[in-house]
Amino acid sequence: MKHDDKPTIFVIFGITGDLAHRRLLPALYHLFKDDSLHDKTTILGLSRREITPDQLLEKVELCVLEKDNVCDPEVMARFRNALQMMQLNPTEPDDYGRLRERLDQIETVQGHCAHRLFYLSIPPAVYRNVVDNLGQQGLSSSCQHGDNKSSILVEKPFGFNLESAQQLISETNQFFDESQIYRIDHYLAKETAQNILTFRRSNPMFTSIWNSKHVSDIEVLTSETLDVKGRGAFYDEVGALRDQIQSHSMQLLALATLNIPDELDEASLHDAKRQLFSSIEPVNDVHRQVQRGQYKGYVQDVERDTSTTESYVSLSLHIHNERWQGTRIRLATGKKLARKSSMVRLTFKEPGNHDVKNMLTFRLQPNEGIDITLQAKRVGLEDATEPAWLNFDYSAAAHPDAYERVLIDAIRGDHMLFASSDEIIATWKVLQPVLDAWQAGSEDLIRYEPGEDLIS
Ligand code: BG6
Repeated sequence: MKHDDKPTIFVIFGITGDLAHRRLLPALYHLFKDDSLHDKTTILGLSRREITPDQLLEKVELCVLEKDNVCDPEVMARFRNALQMMQLNPTEPDDYGRLRERLDQIETVQGHCAHRLFYLSIPPAVYRNVVDNLGQQGLSSSCQHGDNKSSILVEKPFGFNLESAQQLISETNQFFDESQIYRIDHYLAKETAQNILTFRRSNPMFTSIWNSKHVSDIEVLTSETLDVKGRGAFYDEVGALRDQIQSHSMQLLALATLNIPDELDEASLHDAKRQLFSSIEPVNDVHRQVQRGQYKGYVQDVERDTSTTESYVSLSLHIHNERWQGTRIRLATGKKLARKSSMVRLTFKEPGNHDVKNMLTFRLQPNEGIDITLQAKRVGLEDATEPAWLNFDYSAAAHPDAYERVLIDAIRGDHMLFASSDEIIATWKVLQPVLDAWQAGSEDLIRYEPGEDLIS
């Protein structure tokens, strides 16, 4: 199924980076395979060094999303045909003149005015420069003859802190308006993340108990076995708080806790999220509310002996609104831990003193689905209970990779699964005190063993 009525040119900054190799290019390949893109789609990869499309493809495991990781020769040929490379220094203004000429040239050959999508898979430090150069060269509008707008897709983190995020947003808005900006949070595009709102809206039996009177705890837990080798320079500047908590964890929390608008559309959803984030108290008591850690061997992986960057964070939050006042909120994330898993879990209050718990878990990965933990009578003459589970499993169904969804939505102009500038600012406001406190010293940094079970 085609989602676009005019061809797209994906202009990828950072095509030789880890993210493009692991996520973006495999997702694009899969979209080619599914025939979801316009026949005249072009991928223009930008890199500082002169490299050819074939040299790039030699380094990429393009078909990791395919069955048995096997590429289809026919799709591969189409993909290779669509791929062009161009040498560009992102901080060199003159190079953007060449980029504009190259884009005009592609469109002239194709005889179409294309939708230009600039994908910024680059470190945050370079981001401002790129946006400024694109804007100065008039690349915020598409096509030499038309007045179409182009779009930018931006990878997180969106800024380093509150101040830089505010600056970034106002600078970007000089050239690109909000409708042209897609701030990617690929967790929002995961099937089970989308299911959180659907579940809440479609199951009235839960609506009346979706509040602090009945829910004692909400946890957003993302744990990875992966270390940071190969992306140490980037990760060490960022750390777990910026890499996961400010974006993925906060966004998942919003889906679980926002007040669902009667008419759910792009604008009302973003507004509901902004309201929710604004009702979270900034983390003022960092000592009590936050724990941070670094796995043993991290400093070797990032090749910086003195690094105190956290690869693990756990923090508790308070939502001050009518619905959630008093419910304990915990967000935790970490690298090089016991397992790869992401979930949002609600624990319901125990009636009286019974030692029983009902839990509702949205499993984002692995085994996407939903679990409800109940208590049932244990078989036998005793009147005892034991836990029982109701499971719904998505894994049997084929569903698109989150990056495919992100790309298709950006082509369609659908902002539902992207983060708005108001949301970004509001989340930084909650977390800024943590960054301030950490700047003062690192005595609280715990060193954990690789493979430890810190999040479960
Ligand atoms: C990215 C983070 O956004 O998400 C990475 O930058 C992390 O550090 C990745 O590894 C995890 O994504 P997923 O989809 O594998 O859980």
